[in-house]
Amino acid sequence: MDAIFLGAIGHPDVTPGILEKEILLRLRFELDLYINLRPVDLFPGVDTHLKDKGPEDIDFVVVRENSEGMYAGGGGFFKKGTPDEIAIQESVNTRKGVERCVRYAYEYCRKRNRKKHLTLCAKTNVLIYESDLWFRVFQEVHEDYPDITINYQHVDALCMWMIKNPEQFDVIVTNNLFGDIITDIGAIIQGGLGIAAGGNINPEGTSMFEPMGGSAPKYAGLGQVNPLAAIAAAQMMLHYLGEEAAAAKLLEAIKKVVKEKLASLDAGKMGYSTAEVGDLVVGSLA
Ligand code: IPM
Ligand code: MG
Repeated sequence: MDAIFLGAIGHPDVTPGILEKEILLRLRFELDLYINLRPVDLFPGVDTHLKDKGPEDIDFVVVRENSEGMYAGGGGFFKKGTPDEIAIQESVNTRKGVERCVRYAYEYCRKRNRKKHLTLCAKTNVLIYESDLWFRVFQEVHEDYPDITINYQHVDALCMWMIKNPEQFDVIVTNNLFGDIITDIGAIIQGGLGIAAGGNINPEGTSMFEPMGGSAPKYAGLGQVNPLAAIAAAQMMLHYLGEEAAAAKLLEAIKKVVKEKLASLDAGKMGYSTAEVGDLVVGSLA
């Protein structure tokens, strides 16, 4: 298959960690979905928690490395359960893994054709091996992309900037764990899990698209959850598959429903049920 469309998964009876490790992360590793692509786009009509910021300020994309780093599972316990216990969690960063991610980000930034500005998010002041590799690769690959301007931010500072001046960003590239953290900030400033979608991409293989949030068990069967995140994931998938016309049409339909119909993007506050929101999107398509 060229793509997988994955619904939100999770169940309260399943011990936390199992679904994540055996389904989500396993798909990422075994299909080598080495890019996690997370658009952060505030649609007109959506309330953001950021004071004085609007759709023209919040429109960037995070390219997160999705196949190694702290997620590679390296490390172990020593003397577990004893007072002398040691827990080691290793971050694996291969030249190949870093470079293919950084290259993808430059390429994406060029194709996106907006500010043509790429920001590297790392922690060179402390992670003197890992971030050093990222920084060197980022600068080397830049030679192939003279049309892109670049800058570097430490991850902690970048978290502040995402909230204070999100308008400075066009594309951000970062490692797996930092990417996980900053994309949650991204999700909340674009209106929350009701709308946030992402792609897990292997540009040479099968890719997977999913809503950012989990299955929200407390809302099970109530028809209150916003389906737009899943629909937005489908929209990203259409774009990825080259179905440009369909993708553009679906994006317009989502934006129209958000702007003209929904009272909020949050579960239970939309003013419509899950199924009704789906019907509204279908209606807008027609
Ligand atoms: C995400 C999620 C996952 C991650 C979890 C569910 C394993 O938070 O896709 O951002 O940590 O990558
Ligand atoms: Mg996450």
